[in-house]
Amino acid sequence: MSNESGTVVVAGMQYGDEAKGRLVHALADDPNVSMIVRFQGGANAGHTIFMGEKKIVLHLVPSGIPYPDKICVIGNGMVIDPERLINEIKDLQKNDLLIDKKQLRISNLAHITLPSHRERDGKNEKALGQKKIGTTGRGIGPTYEDKIGRRGLRMQDLLCDAKELHSKLEGLPEYSWLNRKQTVSDLMEYGRILKPFICDTGHLINLAIRQNKGIVFEGAQGALLDIDHGTYPFVTSSNTTAGAACTGSGIGPTAIKKVLGVCKAYTTRVGSGPFPTELFDDTGLFLREKGLEKGATTGRDRRCGWLDLVALKYAVRVNGVTKLAITKLDVLSGLKKIQVCKSYKTLKQTNDGKHKFLQIRPDDPFTEFDTKKVTPHYQEFEGWTENLRHIRKFEDLPKAAREYLDYIEKHLEVPITLVSVGPEQNEYFTR
Ligand code: IMP
Repeated sequence: MSNESGTVVVAGMQYGDEAKGRLVHALADDPNVSMIVRFQGGANAGHTIFMGEKKIVLHLVPSGIPYPDKICVIGNGMVIDPERLINEIKDLQKNDLLIDKKQLRISNLAHITLPSHRERDGKNEKALGQKKIGTTGRGIGPTYEDKIGRRGLRMQDLLCDAKELHSKLEGLPEYSWLNRKQTVSDLMEYGRILKPFICDTGHLINLAIRQNKGIVFEGAQGALLDIDHGTYPFVTSSNTTAGAACTGSGIGPTAIKKVLGVCKAYTTRVGSGPFPTELFDDTGLFLREKGLEKGATTGRDRRCGWLDLVALKYAVRVNGVTKLAITKLDVLSGLKKIQVCKSYKTLKQTNDGKHKFLQIRPDDPFTEFDTKKVTPHYQEFEGWTENLRHIRKFEDLPKAAREYLDYIEKHLEVPITLVSVGPEQNEYFTR
């Protein structure tokens, strides 16, 4: 698939799971693309690769890894669970997907997730009770907490001697009960295995930019899970939006040329938090079953609902999206009617103490409302019954599907340049 070279950020526009990994894989096929960079998140993300019958799930390694001539970078903005990464590397090597160590570069500055971070994640969630975030339990939040608290360990620390490593553990809140001897010995072993991959990745990426090579920056999660711009506190602990591609990989903002916003033809969410267009009826069940909506990382059922143009317009804004990809359009085949949320209604108290309904449209400021309290206002579309999986041209889609996409494009004011119509790697078309 042509990326027309240059630098492109692939950003999720909803609550994650928009099938970004698959698009990154398709974009990386372009001969001009030489590098695929992940810049935030950690093993909370998940992307599945099928090799015939064999299934490989990637959590940390970028989705470009099946291309032996391209470099995959784990950027400084990521948090790395070294044990999990080593298992992923071994699995890839066993399946001949990681042939040369140069295919994978790990930032020396990326922070390390320790078993104590995973434990703290679990304890934090338990303490929240009913108010829990519904995290993936992978220690993501606590690792970023320690990073911001300036007490974290980084990949380059794995290459220290035992004494230095011991002293680096001192800042951790769990220091008093940590099995320090075991932890240091484990970390040194991880360092021994990962040393050939660890380097100054920022230098490498900037060099590729100077040489005008194509780079795909692979985002994880989605705009509404962004620590600043998402549905706080029901968010992940990193910036998931396109700007993070710069800080999370060590490049300047002028290097980014395009942002491809990825959104499913409907909406899903895992974990707690507001979801205005969530469906609790048979249609929600239909979407979950037909779309195989189960989390790749935790196996949890995903909550399902209609497309939300208010939230998407916001995602376009915070990401600076230049092009749109709509995924899983095929899942909607068979629905008699399809709804799209075009505005919200919320009850507001006026200065004289009375309540009145307020309409919130896609271009309105987002501070005006609380997504927990809004009621979606829908536009109804005719459905279609045709199976879309064989379609490779926009013009060949059923009329109702074209009308649906046209409406989305018109309201978001961004061109839809890619549509996926089936789970197989080749089941998509560009426009
Ligand atoms: P954490 O990132 O594990 O701390 O989880 C925080 C929130 O983000 C929870 O609601 C998770 O379900 C959600 N989340 C984290 N990673 C992903 C992802 O890759 N896809 C979808 N949701 C995610």
